[in-house]
Amino acid sequence: MGILGIETSCDETSVAFVEEGRVVRQLIASQVEAHRPYHGVVPELASRHHLQNLPVLMRELGRAVDLRKVEAVAVTQGPGLVGALLVGVAFAKGFAAARRLPLVPVNHIEAHLYSPFIGRSVPADFLGLVVSGSHASLYRVRRGRLQRLARTRDDAPGEAYDKVAKLFGLPYPGGPEIDRLYPQGDPGAFDLPLPKMSDGSLDLSFSGLKSHIAYRFHKGFRPRRRGRLTPQALDLLASFQSAVVRHLLHRVEALHRLHPVRHLSVSGGVAANAHLRERTLAWASGRGVEAHFPPTDYITDNAGMVAHLAWRRGKARPPAEVDADPGLELN
Ligand code: KG4
Ligand code: ZN
Repeated sequence: MGILGIETSCDETSVAFVEEGRVVRQLIASQVEAHRPYHGVVPELASRHHLQNLPVLMRELGRAVDLRKVEAVAVTQGPGLVGALLVGVAFAKGFAAARRLPLVPVNHIEAHLYSPFIGRSVPADFLGLVVSGSHASLYRVRRGRLQRLARTRDDAPGEAYDKVAKLFGLPYPGGPEIDRLYPQGDPGAFDLPLPKMSDGSLDLSFSGLKSHIAYRFHKGFRPRRRGRLTPQALDLLASFQSAVVRHLLHRVEALHRLHPVRHLSVSGGVAANAHLRERTLAWASGRGVEAHFPPTDYITDNAGMVAHLAWRRGKARPPAEVDADPGLELN
């Protein structure tokens, strides 16, 4: 089965051709440079760039693979930015209609959830942590049936990374920057309060951590001297990253106690984080759990994971019934 994947939910335009679950070719046009001056994704700019980039990427994909081999079109339906999603969905509908191909709408979070299993077998029962610039949830997936166990009550972790990075004058996206600087700071230097739910829920929360750091700035914390980050700034950044990772692993540990399964999938842009990966692998080996991370090319938003999910569990729908759905839920 040859599947064309299209992803335009946020700030990466991506197309891919997947054959029997294997990514033959994937192309990504990143918009990071366009959004950098604004320290975050500007929705209208994202839509315009998708409109420009998508036909260019499709032409390039057509040079790399024989598009006559496409037997179905998979497209991210949501969640995401409405204008951005509309570009991909409209394109996919047109492509599918013109060639009389089945159209498979895909949930972006579910595509992340399964991304560690591209080219590999999926465990029958696993816990899945999805952490990105717009999502944070933990699922149990048993024989393809999904149950959401926790979700963020406010910000996503990637969003917290990006906002904290902005305070320190670091470029967007902030996650990779803070990750890179981590070894230069002392993660124990600042005792940051970990989120606790008053109702005892195991949901996640990141806005408190972000506000705590903003409060220090409000109280006169100066991150730079002669343009360079001070040792205290590096310590505060390392303490922030340490707190994010401890918070995530606290939830993983608590939910694993309730659902002691042998596999954990970690996906979404924040899964690229070196410290999160190291701590998760250490936690997993202590519990006899196998932790699965996506291959590098499928961590941040990409069309390979979209076509891959469609191949595994997609359901074709009549194109006229497929609409972009910015608030699409996964359970
Ligand atoms: O999955 P993704 O590409 O887009 C969404 O679906 O949101 O995730 C992007 C997010 C950004 O907030 C970025 O700062 C974060 O992932 N990110 C990281 C790292 N690489 C990307 N966060 C922490 N550490 C990283 N190494
Ligand atoms: Zn994503």
